[in-house]
Amino acid sequence: MIYTITFNPAIDYVVHTDKMAPGKINRSRSEQMYCGGKGINVSLVLSELGVASKALGFVAGFTGRAIEDGIAGKGVETDFVHLTNGCSRINVKIKSDVETDLNGQGPKIPEEAVQKLYKKLELLRDGDTLVLAGSIPGSLPDDIYEKILARVSDRNIKTVVDATKNLLLNVLKYKPFLVKPNSDELGEMFGVTLSRGDEIISFAKKLKDMGAVNVLVSMAGEGAILIDAHGCVHRCGVCRGEVKNSVGAGDSMVAGFLAGIQSGDYGYALKLGTAAGGATAFSDGLAEKEMIYRLLKQL
Ligand SMILES: Nc1ncnc2c1ncn2[C@@H]1O[C@H](COP(=O)(O)OP(=O)(O)OP(=O)(O)O)[C@@H](O)[C@H]1O
Ligand SMILES: [Mg+2]
Repeated sequence: MIYTITFNPAIDYVVHTDKMAPGKINRSRSEQMYCGGKGINVSLVLSELGVASKALGFVAGFTGRAIEDGIAGKGVETDFVHLTNGCSRINVKIKSDVETDLNGQGPKIPEEAVQKLYKKLELLRDGDTLVLAGSIPGSLPDDIYEKILARVSDRNIKTVVDATKNLLLNVLKYKPFLVKPNSDELGEMFGVTLSRGDEIISFAKKLKDMGAVNVLVSMAGEGAILIDAHGCVHRCGVCRGEVKNSVGAGDSMVAGFLAGIQSGDYGYALKLGTAAGGATAFSDGLAEKEMIYRLLKQL
């Protein structure tokens, strides 16, 4: 089973308006709502690819229930810790001539809720996969990724970490199965700006030397580079299409890679990840099955 953890799930409320006048009453032309958070995004795209996963994390209030129902309706199993206070956040995305985002803070996560999450991690068995993605809310300790990886290190669990800077560097000692920084995040980890492919490969190899088994570096519209478990370098370009919203493309790539690697073929996993990332970039919401497999044929 693949488990994903989302500490601070959200409902993204996307409103489109022709002109946005601050301080005035504005009217929306159309609106959509999506359940999100990086771990949930991975689970939703896995579900599109026919791969079962279970979403863990914290939810609260009526928005939390809406998130649980929403993702369960898309075929994702859920086992969230229910917080007694507060509400899961709503992120407002105003799409006009410019885009304005107002992201909620989300509920406070008390220590006893963290202990409940740790208890759920005891259910993971040899061969399971655990995906940790995104930032850490202010009410959680900033070494929680390390603590989680330490807790599952007594079993043969494939861990996936998609996080920035020290959050990622500090977990490399637990030999995560996959890390997926984008090229800007990879540069930031080493205090450099990366643009050339050969530089990206050499810094990606550093992450592998520091413990990561597979290193996947995404480069948005420029494609992706994979250093696989054997140290082989794979490169993949991107699919063609009209970009609508590239937020979540990285999460979709992680899902595609995990679905693809079940075949044992790293090249195929990179392609399925690329098709899933592209399908999200070319959609208003997350990638859907039909587009992912259509784009895969381009690669
Ligand atoms: N404009 C695009 N055109 C085609 N494919 C894209 C585009 N943007 C992203 N992709 C695909 O999705 C993959 C991941 O994208 P990106 O590098 O933007 O991830 P990210 O920065 O981690 O995104 P996020 O954190 O918002 O999920 C890329 O390697 C590529 O395959
Ligand atoms: Mg990302």
